[in-house]
Amino acid sequence: MSGAIGGISDTLLYLSGVSVSFDGFRALNNLSLVLAPGEMRAVIGPNGAGKTTMMDVITGKTRPDAGDVIFRADTDLTRLDEPAIAALGIGRKFQKPTVFEPHTVHDNLLLALAGNRAPHHALFARETRAERARIDELLAIIRLAEHRYRRAGDLSHGQKQWLEIGMLLAQEPDLLLIDEPVAGMTDAETAETARLLREINRTKSVVVVEHDMDFVRALDVKVTVLHEGSVLSEGSIEHVSADPRVIEVYLGR
Ligand SMILES: Nc1ncnc2c1ncn2[C@@H]1O[C@H](COP(=O)(O)OP(=O)(O)OP(=O)(O)O)[C@@H](O)[C@H]1O
Ligand SMILES: [Mg+2]
Repeated sequence: MSGAIGGISDTLLYLSGVSVSFDGFRALNNLSLVLAPGEMRAVIGPNGAGKTTMMDVITGKTRPDAGDVIFRADTDLTRLDEPAIAALGIGRKFQKPTVFEPHTVHDNLLLALAGNRAPHHALFARETRAERARIDELLAIIRLAEHRYRRAGDLSHGQKQWLEIGMLLAQEPDLLLIDEPVAGMTDAETAETARLLREINRTKSVVVVEHDMDFVRALDVKVTVLHEGSVLSEGSIEHVSADPRVIEVYLGR
């Protein structure tokens, strides 16, 4: 396949001609998207455009009816299941926080680090020095150093989202897929989340789906606009927000 496709060798993630139907409804329709190594991409578009379905396809939750989904130019993700794709270094954060509310911030991160430990061991065995040091780093990244021993359930909604980003980072993914991280956040939390993702993007590739245009503007990265399962427009935030088709189906609502 690589012979037919120019430039695939330089890509981290390569989607081409991807289609997904649910009971005859095309959620993705000949979708193509190319992410360079180290890139952060923002994906926007109206409700039902296929943004979450695209993440489902990348992570192996949904198998496409047609098209190529290639990671690091040589791995066909459509042949792999979710655990295998996660093991390749693709981590995902869902829209709704799924932190363990009765446990502290620290223990949530330890659980995420401990991944393959049995849960009772992860919580009741003392962490190693290396784990402690990594938790220190993660807490600094996600702005929760002062909240280490608070119950996760007592954090603000925004802080829970940051904790979940920290739990995702604990798994050391190379590519993070993040679905609507700032929904329900305060303006201050939203601005802080943009800074946080820009910092994370210094070492990791990111695909972030959002509706919040102030947030997308603050990310200051290339934007892909999805509509009816295809790419409607792509480019800088200035470019796509001046595109009459984007204004018509999305921004002008
Ligand atoms: N498992 C499924 N079964 C049936 N239909 C589905 C399934 N998943 C998604 N769809 C449909 O596919 C379309 C695209 O949904 P998707 O969740 O990808 O949109 P989205 O761009 O993430 O929207 P939003 O901004 O509201 O999150 C929608 O019409 C949705 O109802
Ligand atoms: Mg969605």
